[in-house]
Amino acid sequence: MVGTSTADDAAAYRIDGQRALIQTVDFITPIVDDPYDFGRIAAANSISDVYAMGGRPLFALNIVCFPTKKLPLDVLGKILKGGCDKAREAGIEIIGGHSVDDEEPKYGLVVTGMARADRVLTNAGARPGDILVLTKPLGSGILTTALKKGLLANVTKNKIIDVMATLNRAAAEALDGLEVHALTDVTGFGLLGHLVEMLTGSRVAARIRTADVPVLEEVWPLARDGVYPGGAQRNLDRLDRSVHWPDATPEEIKIVLADPQTSGGLLIAIAPHELDRLMDRLSGAEVPAAAVIGEITSQQPHVVQVDNSSMKGLVDDATEDC
Ligand code: CO
Ligand code: CO
Repeated sequence: MVGTSTADDAAAYRIDGQRALIQTVDFITPIVDDPYDFGRIAAANSISDVYAMGGRPLFALNIVCFPTKKLPLDVLGKILKGGCDKAREAGIEIIGGHSVDDEEPKYGLVVTGMARADRVLTNAGARPGDILVLTKPLGSGILTTALKKGLLANVTKNKIIDVMATLNRAAAEALDGLEVHALTDVTGFGLLGHLVEMLTGSRVAARIRTADVPVLEEVWPLARDGVYPGGAQRNLDRLDRSVHWPDATPEEIKIVLADPQTSGGLLIAIAPHELDRLMDRLSGAEVPAAAVIGEITSQQPHVVQVDNSSMKGLVDDATEDC
């Protein structure tokens, strides 16, 4: 049902009239020092692609690269424990896997899931008028870059680890039975990159209100000081013709909207008449954010129109804080 022709989160394969198998694989290099945290973040990220297709995970397999001659084996044990605990939180077991000796650790999961065949949610169904909702704040790429440079306070460090390790399960369950037209999760291409994939797949455009986009604490001053991952700039370069920026858009706004996220939130395009029900459910759920950030439009060409009009105060406030 879903293969490589669209930039979707996972493959979907119809197994009978009612059910589709959802299949994905994802593994990453360490983004935090603590092996247990790395394990649970990597697992949350891998499982997310099943949620992002409207599916529910069934079981998973480990994929591991590990430098057995450089690091003690108990580090590997902690990575796997983090993955195992996160999988259990998602209600599934890890029932196998494969490991390779490698210079740098890498970890993730092959995740098999299931969806109702008529509820497979892809990038490709967004319609003009749909409302865009985001379920995690942005900035984890910028903050993990700052973390590696020793620029972060411990409270901020714990906060971003928490956000990255949060499953998209509650956000996905909040969508049950609602008229969702398109769904994806925000990861390596940043909010704008994944939004553009959705717009391309759906042949529509979008308007994003920067002031309504949730952003983690401490992100603005860091972005302004040039502390961000190389991937943010690469994402921006790639997006050049797909995004219309207002004149004199501050560079940090562009960077934050293109910041690569490890284990980001769901980006939901929902029919406007369902928005209140969705926001109601999300407000009672354990989600790091529940923000209406813009809407789908029919504008040509199919680009993102960024609106910073009520943004200035926010950026200035951040400046005063630091
Ligand atoms: Co994804
Ligand atoms: Co992925």
